[in-house]
Amino acid sequence: YTVNIDASDISKGTYDHYMLKEIDEQPSVMRRISQNYLNNDGSLNVEQDLLDEMKKADRLYIVAAGTSYHAGLVGKNIFERVADIPVDVELGSEFGYHMPKLSKHPFFIFLSQSGETADSRQVLVKVNKMNLPSLTMTNVANSTLSREATYTMELLAGPEIAVASTKAYTAQIAVEAVLAKALGEAKGLQSGKDFNVKEQLALAANGIQTIVDEKSKIKDLTADYLTDQKDAFYIGRGIDYALALEAALKLKEISYIHAEGFAAGELKHGTIALIEKNTPVLAYVNDGVGASHTRGNIQEVEARGAHVLVIASQKYAEPTDQIIIPEIDELISPIISVVPAQLIAYYASLARGNDVDKPRNLAKSVTVE
Ligand code: AGP
Repeated sequence: YTVNIDASDISKGTYDHYMLKEIDEQPSVMRRISQNYLNNDGSLNVEQDLLDEMKKADRLYIVAAGTSYHAGLVGKNIFERVADIPVDVELGSEFGYHMPKLSKHPFFIFLSQSGETADSRQVLVKVNKMNLPSLTMTNVANSTLSREATYTMELLAGPEIAVASTKAYTAQIAVEAVLAKALGEAKGLQSGKDFNVKEQLALAANGIQTIVDEKSKIKDLTADYLTDQKDAFYIGRGIDYALALEAALKLKEISYIHAEGFAAGELKHGTIALIEKNTPVLAYVNDGVGASHTRGNIQEVEARGAHVLVIASQKYAEPTDQIIIPEIDELISPIISVVPAQLIAYYASLARGNDVDKPRNLAKSVTVE
């Protein structure tokens, strides 16, 4: 299955920026991934050799950079819960030079939209030298990381032109979910059988559509919270902490606002000293076990003058919450709940007159270490 790339894919069409076009394309990317990897009879279109190799593993190592690293943090929860295997998520630039003691039977997954990131590739070179098995999940077939890994799974997101990665991040989480389901089933696990990835990807597509359809409301919220602000915090617990890191990166890299993604429970151990009147704090409340504690953290920052915007799933929402995330399995909820953060970053960058698609000092693919 290859994505036929034609001129329409790499033109902005009626959009002012590639980034907004690529945000809007995410529902159809979810459907394309579902069509490609999930067969009508419920079976999964995942290489049997890959699954046989992964079944031998006692630990997965996900290696990536930037947004792809953040997709790996979400994937960790998915693989651990659906396929019952421990996962380490590693920054290529660190792992390559400070490799920890590996497990007896490691399996490596490289996440890379471009398939050319030098920080990640230098790890693959070392992994190959150790004759260890690897899979690359990438948006670019025949890219270096794809060619040099043992196995490849394509993201099928279509060309991603904007420097700020959006549809590749949600596609990575979707493909991780497909693979986790396939591995869980191959291991005969009930958790693998129970994870209805077909239904979840359909919910993801519809949920993203709901959010992109309310983009004008998100544009207004962005103006309310971020105009004239030079700092911002995204906070969350569990799956929402991994998400907060990605949400903050989006805002930083195209609006140049200094944003931090922070574990909600950790703020009070020092960093809360930075919260002052009107500091924007964007709080995620999708993670069930942490929801009530995160509400407590929201009160803590409000008590210090923060201007809090809450992005909560329907299940845990309160009437005053500004953005509601449609129902989806918590494990892959970042696929939907990242979209408000993508749009907030887009509108904040636009409001500052920045080059949204080509922010200063950045390249789409970092092919140097
Ligand atoms: C994300 O918005 C950035 N453009 C950047 O962090 C990117 O995710 C990172 O450089 C990794 O790129 P890759 O996915 O192509 O390996």
